[in-house]
Amino acid sequence: MKDKYDYLVIGSGIAGLTFALSVADSGSVAVVTKRNREESATSYAQGGIAAVVGEADSFESHIEDTLRSGAGLCRKDVVTEIVREGPKQVRRLIDWGVRFTHGERWPFDLTKEGGHSHRRILHAGDFTGQEIERALLAALADHRNVTFFEDHIAINLVTTHSIGRKRSGTDRCIGAYVLDIRKKKVRAMSARTTVLATGGAGKVYLFTSNPDIASGDGIAMAFRAGARVANLEFVQFHPTCLFHPKAKSFLISEALRGEGARLTLMDGTPFMKRYDSRGDLATRDIVARAIDSELKRRGDDYVLLDATGLGAAFIRRRFPNIYERCLSFGIDITHEPMPVVPAAHYFCGGVVCDMDGRTNIDGLFACGEVACTGLHGANRLASNSLLEAVVVAARAANAAMNGCAEYASRDYMIPQWDSGGATDSDEEVVISQNWDELRRTMWNYVGILRSDKRLMRALRRILLLQEEIQDYYWNFIVTSNLIELRNIALVAELVIRSALSRKESRGLHFNIDHPDAKISLAHDTVLVRRPGVKTSKDRSGKRNSRVSRGSRIRRNV
Ligand code: FAD
Ligand code: SIN
Repeated sequence: MKDKYDYLVIGSGIAGLTFALSVADSGSVAVVTKRNREESATSYAQGGIAAVVGEADSFESHIEDTLRSGAGLCRKDVVTEIVREGPKQVRRLIDWGVRFTHGERWPFDLTKEGGHSHRRILHAGDFTGQEIERALLAALADHRNVTFFEDHIAINLVTTHSIGRKRSGTDRCIGAYVLDIRKKKVRAMSARTTVLATGGAGKVYLFTSNPDIASGDGIAMAFRAGARVANLEFVQFHPTCLFHPKAKSFLISEALRGEGARLTLMDGTPFMKRYDSRGDLATRDIVARAIDSELKRRGDDYVLLDATGLGAAFIRRRFPNIYERCLSFGIDITHEPMPVVPAAHYFCGGVVCDMDGRTNIDGLFACGEVACTGLHGANRLASNSLLEAVVVAARAANAAMNGCAEYASRDYMIPQWDSGGATDSDEEVVISQNWDELRRTMWNYVGILRSDKRLMRALRRILLLQEEIQDYYWNFIVTSNLIELRNIALVAELVIRSALSRKESRGLHFNIDHPDAKISLAHDTVLVRRPGVKTSKDRSGKRNSRVSRGSRIRRNV
């Protein structure tokens, strides 16, 4: 079988689908996705997408809010460009069939979330992501150039250097090894352009708002391939996830607070004004830390979010998803407050790329949550993620289409995957044991409040776990569980190393041993794999994964 495409898109959330739709008329597109095509963080997005479309709003105000939230680490040029391009890309989404909720005054209803000084968030009830995903998939359906590969999980990127070609000079991505999960076969898929649109890594933590697909595969694959990754210490914890044993940290949208819901202690006392003059609508880093601090101080299990003042009819109309889900757990939010706690939600860092999604490896683009463009800095402003994904994916598509001709004449053959002497696993329990231990370690030691001691403790444990996981990886035939475990272990290590290297507190990273922000440290944490330690014994590139421990941390790059 010839697995050769113009564009290999890994991921079918808003970023991957926007890219695919934008390039579909210009060449063959393979969209590889590890579950069914709808399964993505995008499908669970509730609040909406931020863009300047309201009369009273301005680009300057959205830029200012984004910069303020980012705590000194946003790239102003990137913020300006993405914010300014927002309305155009929102219009494109509408043209592709996205039905945002209509408002009384302006054609669309605009809501508010923490850190925004205006109502500027377009939404589709509280099912915004599901509606976007539906529309983009419908727009792509039956496109003759586009093939979806569901239940296919990318294992490793393949570059010219990794297959021993062109060892000096610029490295070029030429595709990826992809496991067909149903057939248990690894395919070598080659492409002129490869796009990482694999989303985030919330599953690195025990409690997360993210769906199971969020195992940081894109960050791990890119790092192993030699791409630069940055700012992984800035993990955003969403302040309000439902506290219920069966709710799997179901998200309670910040838009509820935007519409007037209030956070209180268990006895009904409001507390957010003690932490920030913006109260319940302070930025997420501040609200999550405030809740964490109240829980620790009082020994409570949760705080309350009280939406009863909004009125039953409004709640049922505006937040049908949240209302129904809470009701299914026996909580009628029109009459009683919800118990909520913070949970890991969003990775502000990721694969370093420019505004057009270009990474430091030729032919490799990144867009969406996997990418680090400089928009979010040390703390993402609410609803700026869908915005970034759609803007950068569209720009990456243009850049890739323009760059494609340059490589049209070059074809690289990817060697077939070589399993060596690997056999079927004899003890799946190793995977579940390590999976659980790793995520618990991250939750307990690398959470909302960090310390040097806890971070060191976490690093020691993760390195031990990695040894076991690598051993397992070498000896047994790869499965999707193993691939994901190996990736979360690497991402966990990168998060800890980044956090250890930042000797200050800023945005989402708070270290009690270094509680203040330092002007001299107002720059990115960039990690690159140490060059020269790569071995090519295994043509499938498997050996390359061994070098993660030797990662080098560079700053100010
Ligand atoms: P995703 O939508 O996560 O898609 C990733 C895709 O990559 C999936 O298809 C996955 O299967 C695939 N994939 C991953 N690894 C592999 C692999 N190895 N091989 C093959 N396929 C792979 N942001 C906002 O701006 N506004 C909101 O209102 C909002 N609400 C949110 C609510 C929740 C509950 C969550 C979890 C997040 C929310 N966010 C919100 C964040 C936002 O939804 C995500 O950041 C965004 O959707 C990411 O889009 P993406 O296309 O980059 O990745
Ligand atoms: C939410 O609806 O609270 C999530 C919004 C976001 O993550 O941007």
